[in-house]
Amino acid sequence: MSARRDQWNPTSLPAQTGRAFLVTGSNAGLGYFASEQLARAGAHVIMSGRNPNRLAAARAAIGRRVPDASVETLLLDTSNLGSVRAAAASVGGRARLDGVLLNAGIVHPPRTREVTGDGNELVLATNVLGHFALAGALLPVLERAELPARMVWLGSISTAMWSYDPVDPQLEQDYSPWRAYVQSKVIAQALGFEADRRLRAHGLAVRSLVAHPGYSVSGRTPGIRGVNEPTRGARFVDNLQAAVTQSKERGAWAPVRALIDPDAEGGTFWGPKGGLRGMPRTARPAALTADPARGERLWAFCEEATAVQWPSDRGSSERRRWRRRSGR
Ligand SMILES: NC(=O)c1ccc[n+]([C@@H]2O[C@H](COP(=O)([O-])OP(=O)(O)OC[C@H]3O[C@@H](n4cnc5c(N)ncnc54)[C@H](OP(=O)(O)O)[C@@H]3O)[C@@H](O)[C@H]2O)c1
Repeated sequence: MSARRDQWNPTSLPAQTGRAFLVTGSNAGLGYFASEQLARAGAHVIMSGRNPNRLAAARAAIGRRVPDASVETLLLDTSNLGSVRAAAASVGGRARLDGVLLNAGIVHPPRTREVTGDGNELVLATNVLGHFALAGALLPVLERAELPARMVWLGSISTAMWSYDPVDPQLEQDYSPWRAYVQSKVIAQALGFEADRRLRAHGLAVRSLVAHPGYSVSGRTPGIRGVNEPTRGARFVDNLQAAVTQSKERGAWAPVRALIDPDAEGGTFWGPKGGLRGMPRTARPAALTADPARGERLWAFCEEATAVQWPSDRGSSERRRWRRRSGR
């Protein structure tokens, strides 16, 4: 890492005026704070979420905290492929999109396995499959950005602690809430790295990066009406873990850096310097998630589970057609 990179200041970001970003799950947690940080830097932010009331509350909060923010809201339920298609169609018609933060996630999975209307395990569908379909559908508009646009996938340090090899991605055999969560993050990271390999192989001007927020908890996060209102009990418990946790505001630092640091390269992994908390830096991903053979296998699985093929992966004549449409 160069000396210049070490000087990155997450509280004073480079100006993002004229750039536009989409954030999934932006009504709470890291997604909210990432949206706020991008808006404060001057970007236009498309805040997306599955619930219109929670989304409106988050938009109002940004309005209070960043008076000149340029934000809009978009309904997007990542567990529902129809909702993903509709949202992608709305964003795909824009003049440009500079990046997408694939952040939405279930962090407290249900006790027993649940299946979405599309027939996929709920945690996998929400944390991975919706984002796989969304990122692919957004490729043409991402390609219209002036600088190479970015997609940033949300991973987790838990992938380095529990090496759950996703041989059964739908967890039909051995579901547990923790396994569902960690496995979804293993797959998200593997897809993030595989996406970058594929984008490069096809010569596309879009980069894929992976970031994780360490251990970021609500009880150590500023209270914001309609966005973060932990109980006193939650604040007490979270503060007991202060040595190994940070706020969700700080948790957003690594994903935001991966999205906008001009020096951040495709295929890299970003997280807090101390692993669980700290300044955003490059990190070493769990080997399980960086293995190209596993990445390729999981990619094929996602194509089948979503019935989506990224335009860049289709036959060369179709690829030429969408690249003409995207103006490249
Ligand atoms: N916090 C950590 O320490 C930590 C560690 C590692 C990785 N991560 C990852 O970071 C991301 C954000 O975590 P967080 O801590 O900010 O969680 P959070 O506070 O629970 O926020 C999750 C966000 O995702 C949204 N979401 C959930 N299901 C959705 C769906 N079906 N469609 C659209 N949005 C949906 C939530 O919206 P609703 O309000 O509608 O539920 C909320 O906006 C996740 O991908 C998580 O795996 C977090």
